[in-house]
Amino acid sequence: MADEDALDRALAIARAYIASRGDRPVWPTTTLDQLRAALGGPLPASPIDSTTVIDALARAAEPGLVETSGPRYFGFVTGGALPAAVAAEWLTAAWDQNAGLFVMSPAGAVVEEVAGVWLRDLLGVPASSSVGFVTGCHMANFTALAAARHEMLRRAGWDVEADGLQGAPSLRVIVGDEVHVSVMAALRYLGIGMSQVERVDVDGQGRMQPEALATALSSGLASGGPTIVCAQAGNVNTGAFDPFETIVDLAHVHEAWVHVDGAFGLWAAASPTLKHHLAGAERADSWATDAHKWLNVPYDSGLVFVAHPAAHRAAMSFSAAYLMRSGDQPREAMDWTPESSRRARGFAIYAALRSLGRSGVAEMIERCCRLARRFADRLRAEPSIRILNDVVINQVLVRVEPPGSDAGAADAATRDALKRVQDERVCWLGGTRWHGMDAMRISVSNWSTTDEDVDRSADSLIRAVRESVL
Ligand SMILES: Cc1ncc(COP(=O)(O)O)c(C=O)c1O
Repeated sequence: MADEDALDRALAIARAYIASRGDRPVWPTTTLDQLRAALGGPLPASPIDSTTVIDALARAAEPGLVETSGPRYFGFVTGGALPAAVAAEWLTAAWDQNAGLFVMSPAGAVVEEVAGVWLRDLLGVPASSSVGFVTGCHMANFTALAAARHEMLRRAGWDVEADGLQGAPSLRVIVGDEVHVSVMAALRYLGIGMSQVERVDVDGQGRMQPEALATALSSGLASGGPTIVCAQAGNVNTGAFDPFETIVDLAHVHEAWVHVDGAFGLWAAASPTLKHHLAGAERADSWATDAHKWLNVPYDSGLVFVAHPAAHRAAMSFSAAYLMRSGDQPREAMDWTPESSRRARGFAIYAALRSLGRSGVAEMIERCCRLARRFADRLRAEPSIRILNDVVINQVLVRVEPPGSDAGAADAATRDALKRVQDERVCWLGGTRWHGMDAMRISVSNWSTTDEDVDRSADSLIRAVRESVL
């Protein structure tokens, strides 16, 4: 009975929280010390009933929550949480399935199978590719690049899973200079040193320059040897897409593997009006993306696809006598991810996709892009504001440039305005450096953001800029 009360209590708290999300300050006012005091203290010496625990947890934690799932959070690239996906997450916790093997959860396995088919269709990934449900795009990049490492070395006559990297043929990795840091981290985990990665030039929007890639591919002693090219769909600052047609053509002439990091940009493929950005990407060898960004599934949820399932499985799979497999069918989720025991992430993705349908996903992606353009247009009308990027999808890069100011003064004004807008708490956005300039980043990725939210946020940002250039 007490446990049921805890669930009822959690439901009531969650409902009240969700209802109030649009009205709360987007960033909390509570301090680190206050949070430590509210949540801290010694480990209880004896049990406390669950309802009391849940009540106390919510009371102590809520003042320290950031409204990342609310409509005016534009920081990093952060999706919200669709109602159907949140409800499916609650059930996922209640069901507490281990999604590692079919025998541990037949429903967990089949839901991944079905969602995998829908996702490949939506994202323009070949139907024959394999899929893994991971924690985020960082681990998706890792998984895809492990498959790439396996396959490129196998073609060079080397078994990296058996013999490791010592003595292996040298593996070239070529990336654009605007590569996301998670690709670099993934390469590091795979034994490829940061100084071994070759970076090629990008243009003013961060897109890989095909001529620079062509030069890199045809130069160097290892030319024609095992090579991986990492391209990007959606630069984390500008949202720009690499020119995939040319990149894939060039890389495949050199028998290189093409990996696409599309943490959020890959979702443009779901929109008839935006999918042209991804032309050619369907011919890549692997793709990484997130569901917790633009699909608006709660954290954590990432996806990896590989056009060469045997390489994917060889890089990830392992076995032990007690890990009971069910033959070649059904799909064993553990073969496609770095983890073995794992939360059943497929349920929330399945619920999100079913609740939106094909048209709903496209509409959500297009709406976010339209709102990003609206935000940029409002800001552009302000004399001291410069929009640094072409707003091709949902990302806007904002810099404050008071008339007559030099670069240093513009940097200082940008940082000052960022602090002011964050302090006002109507919305939240983060800062960055873009090609030697301080900038503010706006990412419109939340399903519930409206025109009014964008206008209120633009007003707040313009107020902050005016104060910072006084
Ligand atoms: C292009 C790109 N790749 C990879 C990642 C890493 O994604 P995650 O933090 O969800 O693992 C991000 C995150 O913003 C990204 O923008």
